[in-house]
Amino acid sequence: MLSLSIQGLVVFGIAALWQASATILQNGQVKPTSYAETRINQSEYSFRTYSANATEISYQGRWDSKYVSWWSAPGIKFGYTGRTVAITFGNLTTDGVLVGYRIGGLDWAFANITAGSTHLLVSPADPNSGLTAPINPWTFELRVTNWAFGIQIDSVHAAAGEKLVRLPDLGRRIEVIGDSLAAGMYTSYEGLSSWAYGLAAGLGNTEYSVTAYPGICAADQDCWGNPRGQVHQWFYTSDTSSRAAALYGENPEPWDFSARPAADLVVINIGTNDGNEHNNVSTTAYIDALTKIIEGVHGKWPKAQVIVMSLWLGFYQSGNSYFPSAPSGWVNEISQMVQWFNSGDYLLDPVIYDGITKKTSRTGTKVEPFVHYFNTTGIMQHNDIGPGYHPTDIGAIKVASHLQQFIKMTFQWDLYATGPEVYHDTLYWNNEANY
Ligand SMILES: *[C@@H]1O[C@H](CO)[C@@H](O)[C@H](O)[C@H]1NC(C)=O
Ligand SMILES: *[C@@H]1O[C@H](CO)[C@@H](O)[C@H](O)[C@H]1NC(C)=O
Ligand SMILES: *[C@@H]1O[C@H](CO)[C@@H](O)[C@H](O)[C@H]1NC(C)=O
Ligand SMILES: *[C@@H]1O[C@H](CO)[C@@H](O)[C@H](O)[C@H]1NC(C)=O
Ligand SMILES: *[C@@H]1O[C@H](CO)[C@@H](O)[C@H](O)[C@H]1NC(C)=O
Ligand SMILES: *[C@@H]1O[C@H](CO)[C@@H](O)[C@H](O)[C@H]1NC(C)=O
Repeated sequence: MLSLSIQGLVVFGIAALWQASATILQNGQVKPTSYAETRINQSEYSFRTYSANATEISYQGRWDSKYVSWWSAPGIKFGYTGRTVAITFGNLTTDGVLVGYRIGGLDWAFANITAGSTHLLVSPADPNSGLTAPINPWTFELRVTNWAFGIQIDSVHAAAGEKLVRLPDLGRRIEVIGDSLAAGMYTSYEGLSSWAYGLAAGLGNTEYSVTAYPGICAADQDCWGNPRGQVHQWFYTSDTSSRAAALYGENPEPWDFSARPAADLVVINIGTNDGNEHNNVSTTAYIDALTKIIEGVHGKWPKAQVIVMSLWLGFYQSGNSYFPSAPSGWVNEISQMVQWFNSGDYLLDPVIYDGITKKTSRTGTKVEPFVHYFNTTGIMQHNDIGPGYHPTDIGAIKVASHLQQFIKMTFQWDLYATGPEVYHDTLYWNNEANY
């Protein structure tokens, strides 16, 4: 199955295009999409304008100092009064990028964004804008769907005489570190259909950041055109796309961990690309990189609990049933690494590996166990993984749901979302009885 997996995890070329195409395929057919034209001529409107650095705007996921978004499902959130929200997107926006946006916890609407233009995303003409909110002011949330593309916020507008309001922090925080499997590659709305999104949205009252990029390895080497591995790149603001390379070359902005609250939980799902023989990563190099990622997380956020997920690949038919393809081994190695962290043998170096200084040594003080193993065996079945070796929308929902229960049981986190975990276009039903 290894050779087959090569096709499934390649990200050739896609990221090299600066212009997005909003074609979405569903079972090999072009999916009907009709996104309303939201672009406006701003000079025909009267707005109260907030610049990108306004404290009223909460940035979700990773954004750089130019207010350009990176990685998977980054977004913005804020409260607003009135019935109008418009956003001016900077020229560093990927032209044509698809974004999902919504009022409160409603289903997502989508818009194809034009770089350097203003889009009217909430207006009195939209019946949803007049709904009685359970909370006042209304909240507005926007997320980038495609991991390879991004937006730049230039400014945000409310109606004249109205205002934006900073939303309170939700109080819990999840960080997902991964590759295409977490980034939502090949799900309908990519980042917004990924298990990483569903996990946090479904827990509710949880801020989240998905630092995942297709094709990337844990080990610091080129994998499928990603020049660096997560053991390095996680410490930086931008991802490993050609979009990032074009803007920052080999000098991306380090991520300022001190500028944001620490994550409470860090979910790590990485290694499928390391495990692909195309990338020629040895077991030692992979486990070393995964160990350093965890050490780096612990160094940045000493109180964070870490969940390491076991890897999966897909299913093959043998005789009259389906069986999971072996995820290139490492099942035992990952589990043993988790045990090592919790054995008391793990000693914390006073100088933590941070992906930049590359200092490691295993002498220091003992730490309380903080690494947990999430066994994915048995969660997804044959039809939950598409022909491209990635979870389908339903597969993603299964992974998210099982993780939610694991987190509820392990950390006593209540499930607060009672509606807003919306996976757009997943309402499959049959109202025809007796057919
Ligand atoms: C935008 O509106 C202003 C004022 O009506 C007008 O002068 C201008 O030509 C418009 N720009 C475009 C691109 O239509
Ligand atoms: C935002 O940036 C402008 C300059 O571009 C500056 O004048 C203003 O003080 C900044 N506002 C905040 C809240 O940092
Ligand atoms: C985009 O670039 C053009 C030309 O450089 C400039 O006139 C315009 O103000 C820019 N727009 C934004 C939103 O940055
Ligand atoms: C999205 O917008 C871009 C830029 O205007 C355009 O080239 C592309 O065709 C649009 N896609 C769709 C599906 O409308
Ligand atoms: C794979 O890695 C090994 C050890 O690092 C090296 O000797 C070998 O040449 C590599 N093979 C390929 C095809 O790059
Ligand atoms: C994962 O779960 C499967 C099925 O219950 C079990 O056979 C396997 O031993 C577990 N793996 C580890 C490393 O615990």
